[in-house]
This record gives sequence, structure tokens and C-alpha cells, in this order.
Amino acid sequence: MRTVYLNGEYLPENEARVSIFDRGFLMADGVYEVTSVLGGKLIDFDGHAVRLQRSLDALDMANPISTEDLLAVHRELVQRNDIDEGMIYLQITRGAPEDRDFVFPDPDQTPPTIVLFTQSKPGLAANPVAQKGLKVISIEDIRWGRRDIKTVQLLYPSMGKMMAKKAGADDAWMTENGFVTEGTSNNAYIVKDGKIITRALSNDILHGITRAAVLRFAAEAQMEVEERNFTIEEAKTADEAFITSASTFVMPVVQIDGVPLGGGVPGRVAPRLREIYLEESLKKAI
Ligand code: PDD
Repeated sequence: MRTVYLNGEYLPENEARVSIFDRGFLMADGVYEVTSVLGGKLIDFDGHAVRLQRSLDALDMANPISTEDLLAVHRELVQRNDIDEGMIYLQITRGAPEDRDFVFPDPDQTPPTIVLFTQSKPGLAANPVAQKGLKVISIEDIRWGRRDIKTVQLLYPSMGKMMAKKAGADDAWMTENGFVTEGTSNNAYIVKDGKIITRALSNDILHGITRAAVLRFAAEAQMEVEERNFTIEEAKTADEAFITSASTFVMPVVQIDGVPLGGGVPGRVAPRLREIYLEESLKKAI
């Protein structure tokens, strides 16, 4: 049984309890982070801590924990649950007032709720899916306008994954006015004539921590990067495509809406970026 962290306590997972009045439960009034673990170490912890604070600030939500203590909790959970490869999920909500109310509770009366738990995924780095690549479908992006805030409002991304599954694909890329925003739980890229193309940062997409690292590594490896909008039609004529996220790192995409890219097998750029990302991130893991 896992040990989880809830509001300052380490508890067996079946003993951790959150109020039915918690605003995370009633209103999706909460933010989260997913940090990957490789070799028992945290990948890009600092990036996730910075984005967490940014999400909290954007929602005027109090942060119940210092970055130093947060790191200690991450490490303690990795150790207690003996995690070699996997993820740590962190969620902070606006807490549990005494009743349901649209108005934010006074943070002095209602402290935030903070939960962390581990997800063990042996073989995460050596994931065989990376050899095969993913199939994606395109769907309309009907999410709200602040996708840069990492909130727990994940119903539409979850529906998108189900639509993909039903269509015999692995995931969905969302489009707005014809342009790809991002994947259901990852950032989206195409490669044309060796150039890596991905949407620029704005409120329209989540500012991926993996994205930032991958673009940095790509530039260091003298690869050309262009941050601009691209349509799903352009994506279908690309040489390669891929996604990035904390749980998939860099993952090739080999089919979009049934159209195979590069003969339906991963090309050169995405697998190379995956290799570089894993190698460089492991060096800096803490
Ligand atoms: N998802 N875009 C969306 C909508 C996401 O949910 C995520 C992450 C990303 C990639 O961000 P990062 O590189 O920081 O993981 C982009 C996490 C992994 C999840 O929901 O499980």
C-alpha cells in the first residue's frame, strides 16, 4: 500500500480523507503538478515548483508549503514508496469551507488542501511505445481561456482521450480556429525539413516544463526551432511529429487523423530528442 501525503501528514493511502466540501471536489478549484522520477531522482523539480507558484498566483490561491519543504516531501515519498521510475502527483486546492459557495473562502479560515502521491511506472524511460510512436486524432479545443494555469479541470482532456480510444488512436490533438493548441495532456510539435515547429507560449496552452527543456536542448544541439501556430493540415504533411510531457518525455507521433507521417514510423528528430532529453535530465535530476 502506498504512503501518501495530506496536509502535513504521511498516511496509508486508504486512510487519507478529504472533506466533501473541498473546493477541488465541488468546483475543480485546484491546481496540480506531475513530476517524473527516474533512478529514484526528480526530473526538473525546480521547473515544476515555479509553475506551481505561477498557477497559484493566477488563481489568488495560498501556497501552504515552501519549495524547500515541497522538495523534502517529494523525496520522502519516493523513499517511502521505493519509487525507481514513475511520477509524483501534487494537488493543491482552495480547501474545504463549511458549505458550498461560489465566493472564495477567507484563506485565514480555510487553509488550502495539499495532497501528494506517487505512481510507480517501472520502464518509463525505456517505454517501448517510443519505438512505435503514437496515433492521434484531432478534436476541437473547447477548453476555457486560461490553459496556461495547470488546474484540475480535466474533464475535456479526459473526454478527448476517450474519443481517441474510440477511434482506435492513442491521443487527441486539439485545434482552435484550425490551429493545433496542444495534446490532451502534452505539448504538440511537428518537424519539417529538419525544423522543429511548435505553438508559441500564451494563455492558449500549458507552458510545459518538458517543452522548455526540450527546446533548450534542441537549440544546444544546433537544431532549428520555430515557435509559431501550425494547422492540422500542415501537421499531416510534416516529416515527423511528437509530443512532450513529464510522463512521456518525448514521444513520436506517427499518424494524424489516419494519415501516416514519414511512412508511419518514427523519424530521426523525435527519437534523438528523446535520447538527449533523458540523458541531460538525468544528469540534472535531484
Ligand atoms: N500533463 N499540456 C497539457 C494540457 C498538459 O496537461 C501537460 C502535462 C503538458 C506538458 O507539460 P509538462 O511538460 O510540464 O508535463 C502540456 C501532465 C503530465 C498530466 O496531466 O498528467
